[in-house]
Amino acid sequence: MEKKKDRKSYRHMNGIEIIGLGKAVPETRLTNEDLRQYMDTSDEWIRSRTGIVSRHLCTGEESLTDLATEASRKAMEDAGIAPEEVGLVICATCTTDYMVPSVACAVQENIGIPGGVPAFDINAACSGFVYGLQLIYSLMNAEAACRSERKYALMIGGEQLSKMLDFSERSVSVLFGDGAAAAIVRGSSQKRFFCHTAAEGDRSALYAHTVGRNQIPAMEYKGKRIVSENPLQITEAYAAGIMKDGYLRMDGRKVFRFAVRVLAAEIDQMAEQSKVPAEEIDYIVCHQANSRIIDYVRKQKNLPEEKFFMNLQEYGNTSGASIPLALADMKDRGMLKPGTRIFCIGFGAGLTWGGCYLEF
Ligand code: UT7
Repeated sequence: MEKKKDRKSYRHMNGIEIIGLGKAVPETRLTNEDLRQYMDTSDEWIRSRTGIVSRHLCTGEESLTDLATEASRKAMEDAGIAPEEVGLVICATCTTDYMVPSVACAVQENIGIPGGVPAFDINAACSGFVYGLQLIYSLMNAEAACRSERKYALMIGGEQLSKMLDFSERSVSVLFGDGAAAAIVRGSSQKRFFCHTAAEGDRSALYAHTVGRNQIPAMEYKGKRIVSENPLQITEAYAAGIMKDGYLRMDGRKVFRFAVRVLAAEIDQMAEQSKVPAEEIDYIVCHQANSRIIDYVRKQKNLPEEKFFMNLQEYGNTSGASIPLALADMKDRGMLKPGTRIFCIGFGAGLTWGGCYLEF
């Protein structure tokens, strides 16, 4: 990947480019075989239905903020930039460590990115990284987000999904893993960028309700109760709510049908926007949920296997981290050369989806 530090003005930029990537995954790696100690499953079932072989899970000593910080440090090192040069921090996550502050602000503190630049999280589940790139593109072009001397955005995708997994239930818990990856993004007048994001509100296909179940009457005003939702005041009702709603739940078949529909449509959308036909694009980096989803669409579109990068066998589904983790692995394998063109396509809870066209 080309490492440059140009000082050109943003004024005429209209694309964005990724100039650095870094990743961090927890040390603890559980194989499908390992999971058999905890539930009635098999390597054969998981592998044949999803392509997943292992996943990395945080232990008590690791947190999402730790992973996001490490990935960000590596991305900055890869791009050759200093904390003082970062002008915007966004973290795509649906498993934040704190309700407030955001993971982005925690990373800003850990890395020492000086104050005065925006830092915030977004939640678009597995489409979060694509949503984030679209935001960066818009903000940079509006010249609103970066002070003139800070030209780079830090875009993180990070998840600690193990916090939301019910390991007594085999159908969802075997699918997900933890991890983070980060990209350094800058405006470019040479590299083209196209993006499309969308959602169709659906609260039943894929959801987890982790907070807000414990409504404690705090005040009464004109006969109406103002309730406080303090998760630390554990009542029996709250505990029951956690048991019922706190974990990630999914209607797997519904999500599968949704995923193949939007993945196929988004490949066409990206080809149309970029004017690069799918047959000519170097790689299509899909959200790493299930190899069967990718294979289904690949066959439908009659595209070769080599075009679709996959690393879900190692990490499982890492939601908002999945696309940047794939890009970081591709970089490590020397697949991102100057001129490489990619479609990235995400889909997930919301239901959300989106695609972007990137040039390296
Ligand atoms: O990032 C969000 C995007 N998410 C996705 O893209 C997920 C999309 N959906 C899927 O990938 C698939 O629907 C799954 C992999 C989640 C499930 O595959 P499926 O072919 O739809 O399986 P199923 O849920 O219909 O279950 C089939 C059988 C059931 O047994 P019976 O009722 O047929 O006897 C399940 O109880 O497989 C059983 N089963 C398991 N067996 C062993 C479910 N989970 C497991 C398991 N190990 N872990």
